[in-house]
Amino acid sequence: MAGIYVHIPFCKKLCFYCDFYHVVSVNDNSAFIDALLKETSLRKDYLESETVSTIYLGGGTPSVCSIKDLGTILNHINKLFSVEQDCEITIELNPDDVLPAYLEGLKNLNINRISLGIQSWRDSDLKMLNRRHDSAQAIKALNDTLNAGFENVTIDLIYGIPGMSLKEWESNLDFSFSFDIRHLSAYHLTFEPGTVFAKMLGKGTISEIDENDSVAQFNILIEKAESAGFIQYEISNFGKPGYFSLHNSNYWKQVSYLGLGPSAHSFNGYSRQWNIRDLKGYIKSINAGNSFYESEELNTKTRFNEYIMTSLRTMWGIDLEYVEKMFEKEGYDYIVNLAGKFKNYGLMKQEKKSLVLTNQGKLISDNIISEFMIPAEE
Ligand SMILES: C[S@@+](CC[C@H](N)C(=O)[O-])C[C@H]1O[C@@H](n2cnc3c(N)ncnc32)[C@H](O)[C@@H]1O
Ligand code: SF4
Repeated sequence: MAGIYVHIPFCKKLCFYCDFYHVVSVNDNSAFIDALLKETSLRKDYLESETVSTIYLGGGTPSVCSIKDLGTILNHINKLFSVEQDCEITIELNPDDVLPAYLEGLKNLNINRISLGIQSWRDSDLKMLNRRHDSAQAIKALNDTLNAGFENVTIDLIYGIPGMSLKEWESNLDFSFSFDIRHLSAYHLTFEPGTVFAKMLGKGTISEIDENDSVAQFNILIEKAESAGFIQYEISNFGKPGYFSLHNSNYWKQVSYLGLGPSAHSFNGYSRQWNIRDLKGYIKSINAGNSFYESEELNTKTRFNEYIMTSLRTMWGIDLEYVEKMFEKEGYDYIVNLAGKFKNYGLMKQEKKSLVLTNQGKLISDNIISEFMIPAEE
């Protein structure tokens, strides 16, 4: 079982918060598609004949690609890899790209999971984030997607947006749950270095929301999602039973994945690789037969850190039997001792043979995770 991620690096407009690799252009992406197909061929052995159970078309904006180009990419993957019959195939769509004919085209390509970048239902938030769409387009996009017969639909929301009140966040959630969505990804706004928002923060023209409001918005999210029948299976991800993202769950369960396209990451249990974050350089290197990625062999420490970082954010938590098998008594004792402290503070709890974060712990998950990390020089 393995996954394939395809990064489509084009966006029509720059969202002020976004640090995902993208270029603001959609003129002629044929050189990119050619390079992507070449990369797919070059890396056909990476997954060592494992069957592919998930494909994720992300970005950037995959919905700037024509149905024909998406078909070419998926056909090529199907030709080179052993793709399972019921493979979960997700595509990220920007609401203003969603047209009924496009949705029909996606269905014909057997794409069976749609991720819509709603971000907020409020026009003032969308303006502030510099999104391309407005709330009317977002509503139409979601209705059209559901009416087209897609069952597995997820939306992205952002909270902690400057100026957003608790009431406004509550109504954003209530409105989301009034649709028949099966999954929600909700992220607290982060100010990523180099983004427009980070620069505005530096100049003082924007400010982060109050910490108490951040906590309150997170708690509202957990409560509302739970009452709407969603399970928080990862800190930012909520799904109805049977609708958790298989692709992302596999990342968190150490399943191998191949990442194609500029900036995409790959992991096969022994090493991780990351493609260069430079579209022109990526195309040029692939065409010239030069290297287009960097890689790191994982050792026991990096594998341990990787495992903690991914598992602790999920409802499955740290599996103590797995830890004992993979990291022996030393790794097991280290985790159990450190977890004791967090358990005393009510930040972690033990569920059967697993250690998981409590809701209190989820609020400071990054701090807890970093306390578990083993420095490289130790
Ligand atoms: C790859 S991006 C977006 C895909 C698609 N292009 C879109 O804009 O809808 C995935 C999601 O990450 C979230 N995101 C990106 N940057 C963020 C930030 N700095 N803070 C919070 N959420 C962020 C957004 O919700 C976004 O939809
Ligand atoms: S949020 Fe999506 S559309 Fe906006 S810049 Fe990032 S990848 Fe592009």
